[in-house]
Amino acid sequence: MTTKMLLDCDTGVDDTMAIMYAALHPDIDLLGMTTVWGNVDVPLATRNTLRVLDLVGRNDVPVAQGAAGPLTGGHADFAYAVHGRDGQGNAGDDVPVRAAESKTAVQHIIDTVRAHPGEVWLVPVGPLTNIAAALAVDPELPSLVAGVSLMGGATMAPGNVSAVAEANIWHDAEAAAAVFRAPWPIIMAGLDVTMRIVITPEHREQLAAGGDAGRYMARILQHYGEFYRDNAFGTWSCAMHDTIAVAAAAGTLDVRLAPVVNVEVDSTGGPGHGQTIADLRDMYRGYPPQEGAHCTVLLDVDDVIADEVVALLAAAK
Ligand code: BDR
Ligand code: CA
Repeated sequence: MTTKMLLDCDTGVDDTMAIMYAALHPDIDLLGMTTVWGNVDVPLATRNTLRVLDLVGRNDVPVAQGAAGPLTGGHADFAYAVHGRDGQGNAGDDVPVRAAESKTAVQHIIDTVRAHPGEVWLVPVGPLTNIAAALAVDPELPSLVAGVSLMGGATMAPGNVSAVAEANIWHDAEAAAAVFRAPWPIIMAGLDVTMRIVITPEHREQLAAGGDAGRYMARILQHYGEFYRDNAFGTWSCAMHDTIAVAAAAGTLDVRLAPVVNVEVDSTGGPGHGQTIADLRDMYRGYPPQEGAHCTVLLDVDDVIADEVVALLAAAK
């Protein structure tokens, strides 16, 4: 059985790895992609997405461009320091790309879900602007998807843009609050697990010895790993982040601890702005069912997924 997936990216470096994994994995049926602002501005996210799909021979995957900034307006902040000015670690290329779809990301999400009721996993790995906008246009989406597997948030781990907030949630906390409130099954791949699954220098060498896709990935990881060296880990290595949400949806991740608990997003503009507040008070008694809870929070997963992802990418043409 393959997993039908629509992947929504703000295509920077770790998004690129997630796209390659989703596009190449035999258990994933990548039905489409949408792009969103976040790591970079949305036209650049779209270009990078189209380029990466081309690199892995997946020009059959339709891509629709989405939101250029937060749901309720306001300032759009980008993360060029993390992902490079081109969103590809300052090591991308200028190979021409095909055009994106003429429809909006919101329409693409709705059409894709409605074409396969009950089967599609939405996998947003950037700010949740497109998903919240689609929900506003089509409030029946929660009963029509298989689920939403998102990269974002932090429960027991610290934040990465503030003491408590993770970037994807913080960038558009209003959108995130709407997405977490909606009654669909959510898998939250947050910093609790994504900071613990890292790409090492050995992984990068393995990618560099691969085909076009692996070599491209190895090249764009350099700057990203330097950012993580200087700001988190002390030595060159980098967090995989977005691929974990893809693998969780596809069932290719070995999940060791993931309670289903209530989660809400702080969008109040105070010091907790962008925090995902998960009710983990039941941790001492094995997390019995919580009324109304529909969010599976990944707290412990097997890091062998990093080796598996690298092997898949390195083996590609
Ligand atoms: C998230 O923010 C972005 O920089 C990454 O692509 C990832 O989706 C990590 O906080
Ligand atoms: Ca991302």
